[in-house]
Amino acid sequence: MPDLHVVILAAGKGTRIKSSLPKVLHRVAGRPMLHYVLRTAALLSPHTVIVVVGYLAESVRRALSDAPNVQFVVQEPQLGTGHALLQTAPVLEQLAGTLLLLSGDVPLLRGDTLERLIQTHESSRSAATILTAQVQQPYGYGRIVRTDGRISKIVEEGDASPAERQIKEVNAGIYVFDLTSLFPALRSLGTQNAQGEYYLPDLVRIYRRQQRVVETMTLQRPDEVRGINSRSELAEVNRIVRQKKNEELMAAGVTIEDPTTTYVDPDVRVGPDTVIHPGVHLEGRTRVGAACEIHAGVRIVDSVLEDRVTVKNFCVIQEARIASGAIIGPFAHLRPDADIRQNARVGNFVELKKSVLGPGSKANHLAYLGNATIGSNVNIGAGTITCNYDGVQKHPTIIEDDAFIGSDTQLIAPVTVGRGAYIAAGSSITDDVPAGALGIARGQQVNKEGWVAGKKKPRA
Ligand code: UD1
Ligand code: CA
Repeated sequence: MPDLHVVILAAGKGTRIKSSLPKVLHRVAGRPMLHYVLRTAALLSPHTVIVVVGYLAESVRRALSDAPNVQFVVQEPQLGTGHALLQTAPVLEQLAGTLLLLSGDVPLLRGDTLERLIQTHESSRSAATILTAQVQQPYGYGRIVRTDGRISKIVEEGDASPAERQIKEVNAGIYVFDLTSLFPALRSLGTQNAQGEYYLPDLVRIYRRQQRVVETMTLQRPDEVRGINSRSELAEVNRIVRQKKNEELMAAGVTIEDPTTTYVDPDVRVGPDTVIHPGVHLEGRTRVGAACEIHAGVRIVDSVLEDRVTVKNFCVIQEARIASGAIIGPFAHLRPDADIRQNARVGNFVELKKSVLGPGSKANHLAYLGNATIGSNVNIGAGTITCNYDGVQKHPTIIEDDAFIGSDTQLIAPVTVGRGAYIAAGSSITDDVPAGALGIARGQQVNKEGWVAGKKKPRA
């Protein structure tokens, strides 16, 4: 929409959330709530997107550094929502067209709702169009006061009379304005109210006094316009987002044993016939294939699992790749760039970082594998450690196909174990082991016959 300009208010401190982090950066299903608002705005292809920042402006800017074509306007000090919008005058006052005002703390709003709101605005040729909702618990929201069916003003919780507090139609904090009349009207806002702030919703009263048309559009699905002002509202919005995601996955053929304890971020994808047990977190850009099984208590972040992968209980998996048929855990830790190939196995108390475990290879118990490239059908014995770090640099370990690493081996990198080679248990391997050889590097055993009896000899 070429003459559409979007302003997102994100300058407030969010006093009620009691945080040193700006409220709009608190996370909903893994992403700052402000990201949701920006994404929805982008669906409308607006000409301009302005974010009004103020409280901890720098951290809000930094959190949006990836967002393309966003301009920032600073509101300092923060004197209310009307004052916040007024700060955009230097950018917007000379422009014509339509202004859509969004609130950084209303993340669930849908693009199609905004399209309908803009259509309502344009077809009624209004000065302002207000999004409203019928809610069961209106506490905290501005109430829509109507005379003869038409909106006459919006009153805030703190300014409302007992009768007005009974009104269940509330202001969603989302508005469309005609730019031509907006800024003069904003300049005429006052602060004679309970909070001593410039209230943006007071524009309704001003416009109505000027006999301008103010239109409303009322939502029947009020969940979309939930504002987040407190930690409990944050938890509630998180619950709504999670529930929606779980329902989408189940509709697409994923079994979720207990949706109330399954936490899947919105961008995660999961294939059909995958089974997710309770207490599982799938985060960020994670992709899980078809017919996988993710057991209870697993956390997977920004990772890719192909089809038919099993992850047993209590694994932590971050920025890793797991190919089809692999079995991981219980209690495994896959760190960034762990690359587990087809049908490989990673057992309990095994940690991998920046390492390839080749097809059919096994590291079943108690191992640390870092900067290692391990071929196919290798057996990594219990207690194997790649000593990859010399205190300054990381060094590689290469283990070729079909090698057998005995238990409690230390591989002091850089080192290579050749194809099919064996390492005797308890070895500290400092030199390369050729293909097909046996490497032994441990102290020679000495048995002292009768030693115990001698030690127990009674004292004279
Ligand atoms: C506001 C509306 C209320 C509506 C509700 C919907 C006002 C006065 N009230 O109330 O009618 O029902 O939203 O969610 O507008 N902000 C700034 N600068 C400021 C103050 C706020 O940028 O000086 C930003 C905040 O960061 C926030 C948004 O504006 O993103 C809304 O502010 P908030 O204080 O949460 O308003 P509410 O009390 O929820
Ligand atoms: Ca709010």
